[in-house]
Amino acid sequence: MLFLILIPVVIVVLVLIVSSRPSRLNLTGAHVMVTGGSSGIGLEVAKECARQGGFVSLVARNEQRLKQAKSEVEEHLKGGGDRQCVTILPLDVSESYGKVQEGIRKVEEKLGPVDVLVNCAGVSHAEVFEDTPAEKFEWLMKINYLGSVYCTKAVVSGMKLRKKGRIAFVSSQAGQTGVFGYTGYAATKFALRGLAETLQMEIKPYNMAVTISFPPDTDTPGFHSEDDTKPEETRLISETAGLFSAEVVAKSLVRDIVRGEFVNTIGLDGFILGNLTVGMAPCNSVVSATLQVILMSPLRIVALAYLKSFDVIVAKCARKKDLPEADDKLQ
Ligand SMILES: *[C@@H]1O[C@H](CO)[C@@H](O)[C@H](O)[C@H]1NC(C)=O
Ligand SMILES: *[C@@H]1O[C@H](CO)[C@@H](O)[C@H](O)[C@H]1NC(C)=O
Repeated sequence: MLFLILIPVVIVVLVLIVSSRPSRLNLTGAHVMVTGGSSGIGLEVAKECARQGGFVSLVARNEQRLKQAKSEVEEHLKGGGDRQCVTILPLDVSESYGKVQEGIRKVEEKLGPVDVLVNCAGVSHAEVFEDTPAEKFEWLMKINYLGSVYCTKAVVSGMKLRKKGRIAFVSSQAGQTGVFGYTGYAATKFALRGLAETLQMEIKPYNMAVTISFPPDTDTPGFHSEDDTKPEETRLISETAGLFSAEVVAKSLVRDIVRGEFVNTIGLDGFILGNLTVGMAPCNSVVSATLQVILMSPLRIVALAYLKSFDVIVAKCARKKDLPEADDKLQ
């Protein structure tokens, strides 16, 4: 009974305090720059933006793969537009801010200022903490975190001046919860969240918006390349969330960029983790805010159940590893 009275009160309060959405982005004619655009989620984001009428520039390290990606994206151009095109920028986003700034300026001279930056360039590595080489931690942080910082820094002043722009970061479910084996990787993805939450506050008065995506395991070349060092625990824990296609992840991300949503999640686990870890993230929809208020405490029980099941997996694997050693000692 009390609950029934409380809900309308909560909704009225939320209507008063939830901020309004930025104006919807029109991708037709917009310049969309996608880093990590030659494969995986980045490539699919580029295709989706091309379908919606965007001019696309693809940034990645490998020129050969970029050329291949360019021709793939070109097949998705809306066609109706007069000059809609795809351009490529071979660049290592983590090399230095100077190089990134120079490369992006060249592309902007050709295609006009960047309206939407989607930071998809990223690498992953799974290995137990003490076995992970120190250089791996640096490599992960440089590409996943600093790469996103450099590209964003290179476009943000122009966007503020024009009072138009969207910046997207691709974190991970490992940026919402720790997962066995991801000490290096998860830290870079948590770092992106700190960057995104802070930046959105700074750019909000300029009709700009930040989106941060927390995709689950996605079927990409990058995902499969981490297989050789991946601990069994990591594999078993990740499997509980399933594997999503890059296309599904990209479509959902582009939809939220266009709408100016801050948090982008995919799938059932995405919904649970998103609402559970929403914390101090901004929200511009009364419906989402209401759900968050209602769901957060019951979801905590779900979270604890998940953690319990992860502990069971880790304990099982630990026992398996200990057994052969125990046998050795017996002999
Ligand atoms: C989007 O922009 C294009 C080109 O500027 C314009 O022709 C079109 O009408 C716009 N669409 C919407 C829904 O505003
Ligand atoms: C919370 O759940 C709602 C309803 O499914 C969803 O629309 C929203 O994106 C979620 N919020 C976050 C922050 O993930």
